[in-house]
Amino acid sequence: MNINELIKKAKSAREHSYSPYSKFKVGAALKTKNGRIFTGCNIENSSYGLSICAEREVIFKAISAGEKDLDTIAVVTDSNKLTTPCGACRQVIWEFSKTMTIIVANLKGKKKEFKIKELLAHPFGKGSLS
Ligand code: THU
Repeated sequence: MNINELIKKAKSAREHSYSPYSKFKVGAALKTKNGRIFTGCNIENSSYGLSICAEREVIFKAISAGEKDLDTIAVVTDSNKLTTPCGACRQVIWEFSKTMTIIVANLKGKKKEFKIKELLAHPFGKGSLS
C-alpha cells in the first residue's frame, strides 16, 4: 500500500473519532513491515486525562494483534498547520520502532513526512535504564 492509500485509510478512520470535548478529530493508519494495515482514531473521555490519541490507539491495536515490526504511520487532521504526534505518542512510537516513518496530512491534501528519530531527537529507551 502506498503513502496516498495509507493517508486515505487514516482519513476514513478519522470519521470514527470520538472527540466531543476538543472537537479535534484525528485519524491514523499504520502499516506493518509485513503489509498489514491497522486504523485508529482519538477517543476522548469526560475525565479528560483518560483520552487517547489516534497514534497510540492504532499502535496498541497492532501490538495487541501480534505485530511487532511497524513501518509507517499516517496521521490526518483538519488542521492547516499539519499535526505532528504529541510527545507521549513519539515515546510510544520509539518503543516499537526506531525507524518509523510518520506521515502527517490534512484534509486538503497537504502532507509532510518525518522519521521518528527527527521527532524524538534524544530518546529515552530501554538502554537508558541500565
Ligand atoms: N490528538 C491526537 O489524537 N493526536 C495528536 O497527534 C495530537 C492530539 C488528540 C488528543 C485529543 O483527543 C485531541 O486530539 C486534542 O488534543
